[in-house]
Amino acid sequence: MNILAIETSCDETSASVAANGTKVKSVVISSQADIHAKFFGVVPELASRAHIANINPVIFEAMQRAGVSFEDFEKKIDAIAFTSGPGLAGALLVGAIAAKSLASVYNKPLIPVNHLEGHLYSAFLEHKGVKPPFLSVIVSGGHTELIIVKDFGKYKFLGGTRDDAAGEAFDKAAKMLGLSYPGGPVIDKRADSGNPKAVNFTRPYLKGTWDFSFSGIKTALLNYLKANPVKNEKHLNDICASFRQAVAETLCFKAFEAAKEFNLKQISLGGGVCANSLIRKMFLSEGRKNKIKVFIPSILYCTDNAAMIGCAAYLKQLGCGLKYTAEQLKPKPSLQLENWI
Ligand code: KG4
Ligand code: ZN
Repeated sequence: MNILAIETSCDETSASVAANGTKVKSVVISSQADIHAKFFGVVPELASRAHIANINPVIFEAMQRAGVSFEDFEKKIDAIAFTSGPGLAGALLVGAIAAKSLASVYNKPLIPVNHLEGHLYSAFLEHKGVKPPFLSVIVSGGHTELIIVKDFGKYKFLGGTRDDAAGEAFDKAAKMLGLSYPGGPVIDKRADSGNPKAVNFTRPYLKGTWDFSFSGIKTALLNYLKANPVKNEKHLNDICASFRQAVAETLCFKAFEAAKEFNLKQISLGGGVCANSLIRKMFLSEGRKNKIKVFIPSILYCTDNAAMIGCAAYLKQLGCGLKYTAEQLKPKPSLQLENWI
């Protein structure tokens, strides 16, 4: 089954064509990072406008790279998937309208996909071994969640952040340090040249719950900087390394505690923050120590992309069929993760 997938939940306009979920024929991602950089965060109205400008070229390019034209669309594409939520209302609307328009014109079924399900199944794009039950760790700019995937489309939500998401903490820390947006990749790069033991930032383990709280680490950084303004490049790199260490240890500790508690032998990561080099290393190394298999998508599939939406859509239609036509679906900015079956 060939699915054309569209993702526009935040600040990446993306389209992808894939066969049977994981055979990715094309994935095109147009990032708006430059537009939002001067505001140190995504400005919803600017995001919507950029999606409007980018959506058609991105879809055309994804079709072209996959060898699909409008003439043979009907023959070569079986369904259209799109991110229906959660996300920014205006941004979601652009993707939903594009998907619905194509579905109406070519009379194709539509598959609405929860953005978190995209991240949750992103490791499936390249790793054949991952199979439910597994622990999904979703770490992005808007989410930090621990979810048990009991089966495809059957979820148990264990915990999430009570305040800032992990990516948000990286982005805010970068702003405090005078670095650019998005903060995660910049801090990651500097941290490679710094000493992770230079500053002992708090690790908010929140014992007795599966929740996270990253605003404490952020406040610890703020207080540290008030008392110790950045002196030079080396000092800056040391702070980045210490901050990254605190976030990585917190995520890794909680995830492995949860996997052990619920006797899960596989952990799958998804979301922009799992592009972090230390988080990747730490999870893989803890996995080896604890005999738990760890699956991490390649960097391309960590941040928002339409290939992961297509993959989730394929699995979803296997589980609950193709139910929707263009008239039935609205974008849902606060969409919750729901069981398919
Ligand atoms: O998944 P994503 O593209 O968008 C959301 O769904 O939120 O994640 C974006 C987030 C940003 O906060 C960014 O700073 C973070 O992922 N990020 C990273 C790295 N690369 C991106 N955080 C830490 N280390 C990285 N290398
Ligand atoms: Zn995302």
